[in-house]
Amino acid sequence: MQIELAKTAGFCFGVKRAVEKVYEQVREHQDRKIYTYGPIIHNEEVIKDLRKQGVEVIHSEEELEKIENGVVVIRSHGVPRRIYELMEKKNITCVDATCPFVKKIHRIVAEESEKGSHIVIIGNSVHPEVEGIRGWAGERVSVLNSAEEAEHFWMEEKDRKVCIVAQTTFNYNKFKELVEILDKKGYDIIVLNTICNATKERQEEARRIAERVDAMVVIGDSRSSNTQKLFEICKNECLNTYYIQTLDDLDVNQLRSVETVGITAGASTPNIIIEEVQNYVRINF
Ligand code: F3S
Repeated sequence: MQIELAKTAGFCFGVKRAVEKVYEQVREHQDRKIYTYGPIIHNEEVIKDLRKQGVEVIHSEEELEKIENGVVVIRSHGVPRRIYELMEKKNITCVDATCPFVKKIHRIVAEESEKGSHIVIIGNSVHPEVEGIRGWAGERVSVLNSAEEAEHFWMEEKDRKVCIVAQTTFNYNKFKELVEILDKKGYDIIVLNTICNATKERQEEARRIAERVDAMVVIGDSRSSNTQKLFEICKNECLNTYYIQTLDDLDVNQLRSVETVGITAGASTPNIIIEEVQNYVRINF
């Protein structure tokens, strides 16, 4: 059997950096409690391993309020400005692992809000990254996730500038579609395509591989939205596409009669899991 492993499978630059920062803190601060504000990545295996090393996940601002001493790592998704302010007030050591690409969006949004622009974030309003970006904008901010929502977007102050940014993992074609709808409304708009290339490259490579193989395996945590998107893209090209979290989920019967298998993985899938799957398929088929 021939295996084609996507070069872009697994951790992107921002996630790799964030996970490394947590392990670094564990090594450097043996005497202090380490927390992450939200799970550092959407991957149960990594979270379990960190828990074993004493790293605790904080789930809310209320929980953060209760911390007296310790180190809190901000994950790659970033957080609203008020979280930094809260940490400062409480003298908590903050290790900022916000992905620099997300940080850039925070800067744009803060500056444009300051200038009086209305901010439009194209993305999923309940995604932590979008919540974080929102927390850098002033009062005038909208989150749009669909063409329908873009159609309904309306602003009383016609002369106010509209600054449009995107969630880093948003689909580029959908972003373009929503921007076109907003553009027709006659507002003075500035569009900043803040979609991260890592996602696009991973999706394009997955599509290319899925087109030519007999079966495709997509590895990632079930809560990872970028893995879900990868799965949809691959399934569109190749009906025999399987979504697994770890090697245990791989149903060997599904790969019995195929000659070529493609493997890709979401941005939060550790290399070790990808290697395990790849080696297993290589040895057993
Ligand atoms: Fe950063 Fe792009 Fe990854 S924004 S966290 S490098 S997907």
